[in-house]
Amino acid sequence: MGRMSGKVAIVTGGAEGIGATVARQFVEEGGQALLCDVQIDKAQALANELGDNAHAFELDVRDLDGWHNAVKEVQAKFGKLTTLFNIAGISEPGNVPEGDLDSWKRTIDINLNGPYFGMRAALPAMEAAGEPGAIVNIGSMIAMRAAAFVAAYSASKAGLLGLTRSVALDCAERGVPIRANMVHPGAIRTPMYERYKFSGAAEPEAIETDFAATHPMNRIGEPEEVAKACIFLASDDASFTTGCDFTVDGGGSIRS
Ligand SMILES: NC(=O)c1ccc[n+]([C@@H]2O[C@H](COP(=O)([O-])OP(=O)(O)OC[C@H]3O[C@@H](n4cnc5c(N)ncnc54)[C@H](O)[C@@H]3O)[C@@H](O)[C@H]2O)c1
Repeated sequence: MGRMSGKVAIVTGGAEGIGATVARQFVEEGGQALLCDVQIDKAQALANELGDNAHAFELDVRDLDGWHNAVKEVQAKFGKLTTLFNIAGISEPGNVPEGDLDSWKRTIDINLNGPYFGMRAALPAMEAAGEPGAIVNIGSMIAMRAAAFVAAYSASKAGLLGLTRSVALDCAERGVPIRANMVHPGAIRTPMYERYKFSGAAEPEAIETDFAATHPMNRIGEPEEVAKACIFLASDDASFTTGCDFTVDGGGSIRS
């Protein structure tokens, strides 16, 4: 029996990167998962590979009706919902005076409103399951130490930190057995990272060296390392942990 045996999750961003890796580890540890993403073909391909305990569902996290349909789908397919991984996110450059306004709105919509809609749609179903449940929201090292060149991203992830703590307190104070925690990655080798590395902002090797140097451990992280933290927080091994900031950033958030 794996640690996720008996647990049923919605995983956003389940088509690639950290979300796909979390979905894979969740199913490999015995859970059942609805892989939600705008990239439905990639989510479907992963679900096919993972077998009967994975199912793909097309969801734009900005769509509250879509979220309600995702919750109905996971209940119809697997009978309940116990676990929510809010992982879908975007990162676009821009400071406050010159940054693109549409980029600001898009980033807040996907990175902050998306998890809010997700928790709003999922919590009643998770409570109805009547079992210990867990929400894991993906923040960023940037939520704890802002970066000048990504104003919207910094704001969205810091906002999600406050939202996660609020949900953690609300569930605890209402006696609901659902924990809510955050995982804050540093730079992680995913399609998001590779897009930036090859964006032309600088030589790819210089970007790799610079990003690695912002982490005291002086390297880029791997999605498997982030997924392991997510699975731990979703598991009953973390039964007295709620409202926490779990960093997977090679020490990046504590460097002076
Ligand atoms: N990679 C990093 O260095 C890094 C660092 C810190 C935090 N993060 C965070 O981790 C999370 C995952 O990042 P990643 O690196 O795996 O990114 P990624 O771009 O590699 O994958 C993100 C996934 O989210 C999906 N997605 C994007 N917008 C969506 C929407 N509106 N609705 C549904 N799905 C949507 C994409 O289709 C994709 O499958 C994000 O929240 C990101 O901010 C990543």
